[in-house]
Amino acid sequence: MTPRITVAIDGYSACGKSTLAKDLAQRFGLIHVDSGSMYRAVTYHLLKHQIDPSKTAEVKKILHDIDLRFLQEGSLFVLLLNGSPPGDALRSKAVDDQVSQVASYGFVREKMVEIQQNIARDRGVVMDGRDIGIVVFPNAELKIFLQADLEIRVDRRYLELGTTENQLARKIVAQNLTERDRIDSTREISPLTKAKDAVVIDNSNLSRAEQLEVVGALVQYRSQQLT
Ligand code: CDP
Repeated sequence: MTPRITVAIDGYSACGKSTLAKDLAQRFGLIHVDSGSMYRAVTYHLLKHQIDPSKTAEVKKILHDIDLRFLQEGSLFVLLLNGSPPGDALRSKAVDDQVSQVASYGFVREKMVEIQQNIARDRGVVMDGRDIGIVVFPNAELKIFLQADLEIRVDRRYLELGTTENQLARKIVAQNLTERDRIDSTREISPLTKAKDAVVIDNSNLSRAEQLEVVGALVQYRSQQLT
């Protein structure tokens, strides 16, 4: 049986964190939590209620109306926003454009981190995001800092969006990734940085199966140390 291990995966936008986290969770019987989906859900809720994400007081007020919880479906944890799964709406361009601004508020982060820490209280978890190894689980048994070349990340996200060959769309994807990376790395509270004890993996030239092999071996190794 897999021990109760916590795996923290951090890294820049669209470098495959969630794919890796999902694959690891499935292989080791852990739960996967995509922390980015939570910041996206808050952003989606604000936009749906025509709240300008730059208006701090309004964001603070509406945050009280947001209930985020997860429904377990096998190794998948499906996010519920006020009781319903927001689904693909979280990946819209409007959300892409505003999420980093919303994620820069300390009061938003506090609420998200509390939910994230509660989830892992009594079970093994793989969580991916920007502040997992440093803020959410500073004592995680395994920390991965995933990175990939920008061009490769753009290609991956572009494919994921199912967009047909279109240079303008590709440029827009590239701009969004670069801008989110900039805001996420330079914000005052919990900026994206590599934890000192994180293992850096560059997956630019690794297939999905290869990255699972590499990181899976690390999970195995750390798990054995726990037993
Ligand atoms: O999937 P992708 O890499 O594009 O992004 P995501 O993981 O869905 O995260 C969306 C945004 O949420 C990021 O650009 C950050 O601004 C924010 N985020 C964060 O601040 N802290 C986290 N732990 C996870 C996401």
